[in-house]
Amino acid sequence: MPDIAFVKPALPRAGILVLPLPEADFPSTGLFAEADAALSGALTRALEAAGFKGRKGQSAILWSPGAGFTKIIALGLGKPEDLNALAAEAAGGALIPLLAQDREATIAAEAMTPTLAASMAMGALLRAWRFDRYRTKEKEEDKPKLERLAFATSDTSDAKHAFAPMRAVADGVFLTRELVSEPPNILHPVEFADRCRALEKLGVEVEILGMKEMKRLGFGALLGVAMGSAVEPRVVVMQWKGAGKSRKSAKPLAFIGKGVTFDTGGISIKPAGGMEDMKWDMAGAGTVVGLMAALAGRRAKVDVIGIVGLVENMPSGTAQRPGDVVKTFSGQTVEVINTDAEGRLVLADLLWYCQDRFEPRFMIDLATLTGAIIVALGHEHAGLFSNDDDLAQRILAAGQLTGEPAWRMPLADAYDKAIRSDIADMKNVGGRPAGAVTAAQFIQRFINTKNGPMPWAHLDIAGTAWTSKDHPTIPKGATAYGVRLLDRLVAELDEG
Ligand code: BES
Ligand code: MN
Ligand code: ZN
Repeated sequence: MPDIAFVKPALPRAGILVLPLPEADFPSTGLFAEADAALSGALTRALEAAGFKGRKGQSAILWSPGAGFTKIIALGLGKPEDLNALAAEAAGGALIPLLAQDREATIAAEAMTPTLAASMAMGALLRAWRFDRYRTKEKEEDKPKLERLAFATSDTSDAKHAFAPMRAVADGVFLTRELVSEPPNILHPVEFADRCRALEKLGVEVEILGMKEMKRLGFGALLGVAMGSAVEPRVVVMQWKGAGKSRKSAKPLAFIGKGVTFDTGGISIKPAGGMEDMKWDMAGAGTVVGLMAALAGRRAKVDVIGIVGLVENMPSGTAQRPGDVVKTFSGQTVEVINTDAEGRLVLADLLWYCQDRFEPRFMIDLATLTGAIIVALGHEHAGLFSNDDDLAQRILAAGQLTGEPAWRMPLADAYDKAIRSDIADMKNVGGRPAGAVTAAQFIQRFINTKNGPMPWAHLDIAGTAWTSKDHPTIPKGATAYGVRLLDRLVAELDEG
């Protein structure tokens, strides 16, 4: 991972110079003009010859152009009026593949505001992350070499100031991506819970519930899912108390994550093809942990609860059967028709527990819950379900601002009918139609509104937790979708 520095604008005498340029006439002042003068106008001539216009995503490379430079990269920023934080991040991200073999570069971001320069650095950082823990034979020439990116900006202290919280959020994103990328033999529920302890050094209180406590509490739904696994389940409760005395009376915000460290489907076993993807069925939990790290890392002035339910869904002689009836922590009973609809069973106990213990201001759960949400929305939006229009609007807005968009889906009694059971209070599947909606309806039955409204939102991230292709700020693999969205939601809500 490269170090990020913000430096005073000065033309480097050697090495690599990156010139981010908007779609406009080439600048007549600043580092661009200085470099062009040092090269007797060869920079302008080369860019014109290459047809470089500064369009978004466009780039041009000049190798060994003279004046000591090994390489000059012109990077298109697009139309000046469209240059916002997301565009700056995308430009920073686009830089990383262009610097694959290089150790350091100076980026002449002096023409951008210091905040946009910081966003560009953030984009570069997010794209530079990779998961190479299990590669032992990678060729030297294939390894990334980047050690330092220096952003030349008019106000280095403003840029550093803007970048500090971004860096904390990036670290949260990396933690999530790492958890989601880990193979399921390594990251089982017990190991996942242990890794949550790392948050303690950021000041997060971490509490791990084991088998005994869950039995005593009566987490019958979660424990039913865990029955087939040789590894015990865990629930981790994380608390960040950042509000301080002034806002002690404010209720905490709560985030709850599905953490199925591997989902075989259980006795309702999945087909073999692509089953390895089910290692990332803990992405909801991974996102909650990364979010806690981000909020604590940037010392957010809010009280936040994070709860993750960690289980492995396996078939075995001790596994739960289709037809079993389990008693949830809420007291409601569930007929388990399909053991592959396990995420909602885990969430059921967590949501009720969270409410019971913390009476939060709102609850947002994240889960790779249904294949049906991928059918509905593909990989472009997460599915958002909510009983509260204000909360839903805030989530949609934060999603737009952070490039992690969500799309609101319906909830209605008509869908709830699909999960009525003949022998228990409900069944855990509602059939093929509107599979993502009936899953959300199931979860909603565990939102207790007896003592007044409880704002709740559910994000089905089955389509957005993992990507099979590179994006400007996300290398292919685990995306950490939701960390930035929810960090932003918290920032806009409580700290503005
Ligand atoms: N973890 C899966 C959902 C999933 C599928 C996530 C594909 C990511 C990619 C979930 O536990 C599941 O198996 N859901 C079933 C529900 C069905 C049995 C009602 C599904 O979507 O097929
Ligand atoms: Mn499943
Ligand atoms: Zn699952």
